[in-house]
This record gives sequence, structure tokens and C-alpha cells, in this order.
Amino acid sequence: ADTPLAQVGVIGLAVMGSNLARNFASRGHTVAVYNRTVAKTETFSADFGQDGTFVAAPTLEEFVAALERPRKVIIMVQAGAGTDAVIEQLIPLLEQDDIVVDGGNAHYEDTRRREAALREVGLHFVGAGISGGEEGALLGPSIMPGGSPESYAALGPLLEDISAKVDGEPCCAYMGTDGAGHFVKMVHNGIEYADMQFIAEAYDILTAAGMTAREISDVFRQWNIGDLDSYLIEITSEVLDQEVDGTPLVEVIMDQAEQKGTGRWTVQIALELGVPVNTIAESVFARSTSGHSALREASQGLTGPDRTISVDDRTALVDAVRAALWSSKVVAYAQGLDQIRTASAQYGWDVNISEVARIWRGGCIIRAKLLERIRQEYAGANLATLLAAPSVAADLGNSQDAWRHVVAVATGAGVPAPGFSAALAYYDTVRSERLPASLVQGLRDFFGAHTYQRIDKPGTFHTLWSGDR
Ligand code: ATR
Repeated sequence: ADTPLAQVGVIGLAVMGSNLARNFASRGHTVAVYNRTVAKTETFSADFGQDGTFVAAPTLEEFVAALERPRKVIIMVQAGAGTDAVIEQLIPLLEQDDIVVDGGNAHYEDTRRREAALREVGLHFVGAGISGGEEGALLGPSIMPGGSPESYAALGPLLEDISAKVDGEPCCAYMGTDGAGHFVKMVHNGIEYADMQFIAEAYDILTAAGMTAREISDVFRQWNIGDLDSYLIEITSEVLDQEVDGTPLVEVIMDQAEQKGTGRWTVQIALELGVPVNTIAESVFARSTSGHSALREASQGLTGPDRTISVDDRTALVDAVRAALWSSKVVAYAQGLDQIRTASAQYGWDVNISEVARIWRGGCIIRAKLLERIRQEYAGANLATLLAAPSVAADLGNSQDAWRHVVAVATGAGVPAPGFSAALAYYDTVRSERLPASLVQGLRDFFGAHTYQRIDKPGTFHTLWSGDR
């Protein structure tokens, strides 16, 4: 044949698929590409054909024939119906041991279903979470693949090759069987929601204290040097620095945050698993509240403080907000990792949390210096919670006064800080020796005879309450 067989194929040439294909090609791999609408394949060839070795296939049959075996097919089409449609067309064309990868943001239950169906017909299905946006896909994303260990042996080196690198290590690792990769990616997005909510609250509080967007941009630039060092802090500085016609752009952007659904999934599944992720939940609710125009409109007459924070020492407030942001961020990571740990036990994935932190250090949206520390904390220990890791607990202890101060000041001024407050409430709840859940149990026994247990003797108890008689 004139054209060499391709090591990998990409189906779907919208932005993410195109960039992923170009990424493979830029690292010397021959890449077969296919798109349902052939015109898009032609445009792709015209635009990027010179940048690497591509086999542009007009039909799925030609696409499959162009791949070396076992075939490695990466599906990058519209999640849901698009993915199912492509899989259905692929199955009759593939052969034993071929590997089908879904690189989209699939729900992990869909991935579990698809993996089982393809295993049934002798194929491997890999649900791979890919984070890093358009630029990550092109230059090096963080990749979270889940599927059979055999499929990772064949596919892993290719994915590791195109992933981001930190300290020479690829930001890609095998997460576990069936839905593990997409689950980890979903929680990554949940943590991303929380991270962004905390950043927004920090901005809101500093604004209430009289700082301009440009001044706050400088604060974030400073914060990015140090233990808050992260992609989201870095781009916050840039977003706040942007102006249109002399006005900060952030003051012109409509204040209604949208969402595509991975944050909502994270919370829905956390509820089912019984894992408290209140920081992520508050972040999802904060977005939906922002979009409830009628609710906000109807609430304009409610009274309260006028969102002014008077400060004698601005530097001290900035430092305190920094502490609140860092501490809340640690809580969000602790909650997300707890959710992964719980699901891993439930589904038998055996996810290595230290590896999760390792591959989130680069390429993905939540990449942050903190993740190296989390990687180390989990490397040697099977932590019940990140909060209990000795060095983390010590730093939270040192910052908690400032964190409380910020929540109190924001509350006093009528500036909502649902993320910071939720994180602090979680911190105080889990560290409490005794909780008022005892009273909740008492009430449940009163009206429903639900019984309770006692701290002073074993057994199950019910009281004959006076109200019962
Ligand atoms: P984006 O939001 O970046 O446009 P997307 O909607 O997630 O991306 O995915 C769009 C891609 O999915 C396109 O490649 C699209 O193919 P077309 O160019 O032919 O529209 C592909 N896609 C969507 N539904 C599909 C289906 N049922 N079968 C095959 N490909 C499909």
C-alpha cells in the first residue's frame, strides 16, 4: 500500500477531535480521520494535512481498513446519541481485540453499559476522560482512561505520548475498569466548579472591600506565585485585567453562569453514594441561582446590608481571603477524592488516588501546585480524608482563623459566600466530636418510631414518648 497503516484513528472532527488528531500526528503517529459529514474531513485535510501523516477516510469502512491491528479508534463526537450511533456502525466493521475509545464527557453509567456491550462481542471499550479544553487536546491534555487492563497495555503508550508532561511524567494513567475514567473526569469537573465558585467569591468580597477589577487582577497574579499557583488563578488574573471601552469586561458580562452538566452529575451521584460534597453542590446551586431571573427579580426588595466591607487594612483582608480560598479549595479536593474513593470501592475499580492527583498536575483545567502535595500525601497512605493528612491538617489549622474571619465579614456585609461557608461548615462538622444528629435521631424516633442507638449501651432503642400516648 502507498499509505502506511495508521496507529490510531479519530472519529469526529469538531474542535476537540481535530486537535486530538493533530496532537497524535505532531508526535509522529499516522492518524486515520473520519467525520460523518465528509466536507469536514476535506476541510481538515486542507487545513492540517501538511502538519503530519493523516489518512482522511471518506467512509467508516475505509477508516477501519486504514488502521493497524488491534485497531485503536477514538470517538470524539457529540456525547450521548452521537456516541451510540457511531459505536453501532463500528461494531460490524471491527474485529476481535480492537479498542474503541470514547474521549467525550460521557456519564460513567453509559460507559459501563457500552463497555459491557462491546466486551460481549469481543471488543474493548475504553471510557477516557480528557481535560484541558481545546488547547489541551492539541498540545497535551490530562487523560483519565478506564477499561480493561489489556486494552490499556495496547492503548496506554499512545495516550501517554500525547498527554501533558509534568517532571517528565505523562498526565495519563490507567484509572480502573469500565466507568472509572469517566467517573474521575466527572469529579474533576465537579472540583472545577467549586474552584471557580471560590475564585468568584474572593473577587466578590474584594470588590465589596472597594478594590477595582484591575487591583484584584494584580492580587490574583501575586497569589499565583505560591501555594495557590494554578491555571484557574492564573487565568482569573487575565480575565479581570480585560477591558472594553475603558470598563472592566467582567463588569459587562451578564451575571448568569451556565453549565453543561458534569457538575450536576457529580452532585447527583454523590447523593446516591451518600458522600457529602457540599462545596460542589453549592457551586452548582450558585450557578443555577444566578440564572433564575424571576427569583432574583422578585427578591430585589429584600432588605440587608449593602454589600460594603469597610477595611482598615486591605493587605490583611487580601491575605485572609487568600487563606479562605486555599482552605476551601483543599476541602473541595478532599470531598471530590472522597467521592472517587467511595465509588471505587462500590464498583471495584481500585482507583489509585495518588495517581489521580499525579495526572491532574498538568494538562487539565484544575491543574495546580497543590496537586503535587496531594499526590505525595496519598502515595504512602490510605487516607480516609485529605483533611487528615498531617501537613494539610496543620496548614488548615493555621489558616482557619482567617477563613472564619472572611466568612464572618462577608456574612456581615451581605455578600454571599456559599462556597467558603460550605467548606468551613464541612470542616467544622467533620472535626466535631459530637454532632446534633443525636437530636435528629430523637425526633425521628418521636414521630416515626425509627429507633436510635445509645453511646452508653449496645442495642436498638425506642422511647414511649408522651406524644405517642
Ligand atoms: P462541538 O460542540 O465542538 O461542535 P460536538 O457537538 O460534541 O462538538 O460534536 C460534533 C461532532 O459530532 C461532529 O463531528 C459531528 O459530525 P458532523 O460534522 O457530521 O455533524 C459528530 N456527530 C454528532 N452526531 C453524530 C452522529 N449521530 N453520528 C456521527 N457523528 C456525529
